[in-house]
Amino acid sequence: MTDQAASASKLETEVSQLRCIACGVVRQSGATNVRCAQCGDLLEVVYPGWRTSAGMRAGGLEAAALKQLWRRRRTSCEALDESGVWRFREVLPAMEDWAHVITLREGNTPLYELPSCARAAGVRQLYAKHQGMNPTGSFKDTGMTAAASFAHEGGFRWVACASTGNTSASMAAYAARAGMRSLVLIPQGQITWGKLSQALDYGAVTCQLKTDFDGCMRVLDEVVQRMPVYLLNSVNPYRLEGQKTAAVELLERFEWQVPDHVIVPGGNLGNSSALGKALLEMMDLGLISRLPKLSVIQAEGANALVRTMRETGGKKLIPVHAETMATAIRIGSPASWKKAVRVLEATGGEVEQVSEVEIALAKAEIGADGIGCEPASAVTLAGLKKLVKQGFVKKSDSVVLILTGNLLKDPDFTLKFHRGDLFAGTPMEEEAESVLTPRQRAPMVLDASANTVIKVLEHAERVEP
Ligand code: F0G
Repeated sequence: MTDQAASASKLETEVSQLRCIACGVVRQSGATNVRCAQCGDLLEVVYPGWRTSAGMRAGGLEAAALKQLWRRRRTSCEALDESGVWRFREVLPAMEDWAHVITLREGNTPLYELPSCARAAGVRQLYAKHQGMNPTGSFKDTGMTAAASFAHEGGFRWVACASTGNTSASMAAYAARAGMRSLVLIPQGQITWGKLSQALDYGAVTCQLKTDFDGCMRVLDEVVQRMPVYLLNSVNPYRLEGQKTAAVELLERFEWQVPDHVIVPGGNLGNSSALGKALLEMMDLGLISRLPKLSVIQAEGANALVRTMRETGGKKLIPVHAETMATAIRIGSPASWKKAVRVLEATGGEVEQVSEVEIALAKAEIGADGIGCEPASAVTLAGLKKLVKQGFVKKSDSVVLILTGNLLKDPDFTLKFHRGDLFAGTPMEEEAESVLTPRQRAPMVLDASANTVIKVLEHAERVEP
């Protein structure tokens, strides 16, 4: 460990606390219960120690020094510095011993321009921050490195999560790296094979429960009450601290110039909460001088936040029975809804919902830019198109889509899309045919002859010059 890390560690243990988002009760960081002992609501990590007599400082450093230190670490070969999460450890809760950090060198994900998607959406500057380029293929790794490290430091033998697939893949990997056992609860038949196979490969005890995600969550809540198992869902406040770093990394990549909009998919609403928390903290620390608007997009069939905002002004959760082909966000009762509402209000962002056909089209459009993502990530582009039409996003605005999962997480969806099977036999079949057919490229089975292949090539050139 470097001297700098050691002094940051000492400072941070004094500065971060866990605070209940509802009743405000505070306790020292490091406690293992993820809910408030007083009222049962969610906890969040807060950093009262950042407020010093010399102004706001993290790890004892003011904004310019933080920017320099984080940049310098990009050339370091130390594990902590190579991680795109722990590189920013001054804005994370400190470990008692940094040697307990479990890292797969997560984060450091690319920012891509999306030229053809920009044209489709009608904006000039469109970027994708691709969190699907993380070690297990989703944004979950950035949060998992943080929470799994605290579980490891806390001496837990078992960690557990309920999941629509990505959390379980990520948790299983980090648990394995730490030598911990992992328990996965997933809704039977509702997660993709890619994600399920990851959990198995990393050695998780995997239970497919005969219920949906929300049902898995309820069962898990009871399991962790009764057994010494550490909960690694995004209700765990340390998960969100790790996930914050995607926003820090994004703004560093923009040289701390702030884009006008950041657009993120909404499922259990941990990620939008984490990214929003990062933006607010960066404002507090003077790293940025204004906030981007953070908007959350949901699938129409899993639109609890949209309904909550529209029907109650964000005051009371309206749970829904979730149904969408974007299985990662098939969630009806999002745990972090209060945190997400706070972020929407603080940044002036919007909520929007998109249809299954809109999701499928947007996914193909992102693929056509050579990037690719899983369906849940594509809601961002579909939502952006709507926000542009409504005038909320202006043509001249700069926009960043957070792509949360890798294309290879759900190859079934992509194959069905191109074969034209995705909406076959559903009420959306006709609409899908008219909107999606031009984008479909079904694989062809041909005789093994050059002539046949050349004919196909010539035909393709004629149809799409
Ligand atoms: N995109 C992907 C690819 C996801 O896997 C998830 C959530 C989300 C978006 C939504 O993020 O829940 O923070 O609002 N997946 C969780 C899981 C629920 O179990 O893998 P959120």
